[in-house]
Amino acid sequence: MIHLHDIRYVRLGTRDLDAATRFATEVVGLQLAAREGDTVYFRSDRAAVRGDTRDHTLAYFDGDPTEHVIGLELRDPDDLEALGAALEAEGRPVHRGTKAECDARRTRDFIASTDPSGNRIEFLARPYNSGVRFHPGRDIGIENFSHIGLFSTDPKRDTAFWTRVLNARVSDWLGDATFLRINTVHHSVVLMPSSRPGIQHINHQVEDVDDVMRSYYWLRQQGVKIVYGPGRHPISTAMMVYFEGPDGMVFEYSVGVKHILPDQEASYRPRQFTLDGYNADMWGSFHETEGLPREPAAARRMRLVV
Ligand SMILES: [Fe+2]
Repeated sequence: MIHLHDIRYVRLGTRDLDAATRFATEVVGLQLAAREGDTVYFRSDRAAVRGDTRDHTLAYFDGDPTEHVIGLELRDPDDLEALGAALEAEGRPVHRGTKAECDARRTRDFIASTDPSGNRIEFLARPYNSGVRFHPGRDIGIENFSHIGLFSTDPKRDTAFWTRVLNARVSDWLGDATFLRINTVHHSVVLMPSSRPGIQHINHQVEDVDDVMRSYYWLRQQGVKIVYGPGRHPISTAMMVYFEGPDGMVFEYSVGVKHILPDQEASYRPRQFTLDGYNADMWGSFHETEGLPREPAAARRMRLVV
């Protein structure tokens, strides 16, 4: 059985590395870790919170902006061979990273593959840690990179792949969207219904709700487009705000995500939430992120008729 340890990074193509770098550091508040050739690396982990600092959690590279890749760390690096065999048995492509590709990803070894929607996934064995203390690009209170929304052309099929092959567990469903956990965090990956693959949004946890609200006002003052929130997800209890970055990528800050602890695993049952009411945001904000309705049904249902 393959076990994943954590989500490690996202890699995004862009045609304007300088603009993407400015946004990642000056707006999102990540730390520029390195710029090598056509790739720029960013860090976001406070060691005091995570207990470790991943070498980088975001990389922008010169390329097609629709090229999105996620990196997942294996709990046991010796599982790489077994994982390759399991992926091949599923009819998924398997590419073993070359030395140069491993160096570019800051890992000892990896396998590149895809999920059935075509989302590009890199499975990492012994990715590098950083001994350098994280300091944010601005005073935002980032604690760590935490999860992604991932487009899926068939969430039911892809959920089966993630749970059966990768041993992810379903935490909850919101409509057809599936919240998947791979450790104690309520969700590391959310499969969002779409007509295409790709990353839907990138989440960073912040220290406090004050950081969410302070950033909300600051982002608006900077002219950054807010696409969702501020609000609170009843599913994970996290308070959040979402905003749009380079190439239309959505970034999220949130605080207070629920954990499902090891002694709760056996008794936990995933819950189905409908898209009605205030199930996506209990504060009732409107949003424009693909994969969710643009207007909460409750806002329509509860509109006063005069
Ligand atoms: Fe999120």
